[in-house]
Amino acid sequence: MAEKIRVMKTEEEVDARIKEMGAQISKDYGDKQIHMICVLKGGSFFMCELAKRITNPVSLDFMSVSSYGSDTKSSGVVKIVKDLDESIQGKDVLVVEDIIDSGRTLSYLMEMLRDRKPASLKLCTLLDKPSRRVVDVDVDYTGFQIPDEFVVGYGLDFDQRYRNLPYIGVISFD
Ligand code: IMP
Ligand code: MG
Repeated sequence: MAEKIRVMKTEEEVDARIKEMGAQISKDYGDKQIHMICVLKGGSFFMCELAKRITNPVSLDFMSVSSYGSDTKSSGVVKIVKDLDESIQGKDVLVVEDIIDSGRTLSYLMEMLRDRKPASLKLCTLLDKPSRRVVDVDVDYTGFQIPDEFVVGYGLDFDQRYRNLPYIGVISFD
């Protein structure tokens, strides 16, 4: 089967949107320091580009999660594969994710982080597929809302590949 990629958002479109998001976030946080938390691995490309467009003082941390087996997936329980290095208590936390699909991962993660008593907690995603939502998630910043298609690039993978594409593409199999 040959894999084909069709461009959905060009590199220029993604860069321009991230620049806008960075400006908006900088404005919203005033002079506060923003503690950005990247959800690995997909969120990493987006977080780096976004952080460069934020003019506030920024600190970074990373976490990695995975869904439990299909039985418990419906409960939305996710396993922490790599936890944060630092406490988030009292910090203004901005979670940075590549894409929100069913919303299971993020609703669980946000609840878990809220329990750790940050001063504030917001969520920023590059992509959102609202038509796929199963669990409600409050998203504070969205790059692009997209239709229900499987996308790769800018951190997003298919079978661990294509994360390094500088644009967002739709993958198809002929
Ligand atoms: P959910 O919102 O809990 O369903 O899971 C979101 C996660 O599923 C994302 O963080 C991605 O890792 C993965 N995912 C969902 N849709 C796509 C896609 O179109 N391309 C690549 N990964 C996806
Ligand atoms: Mg992800």
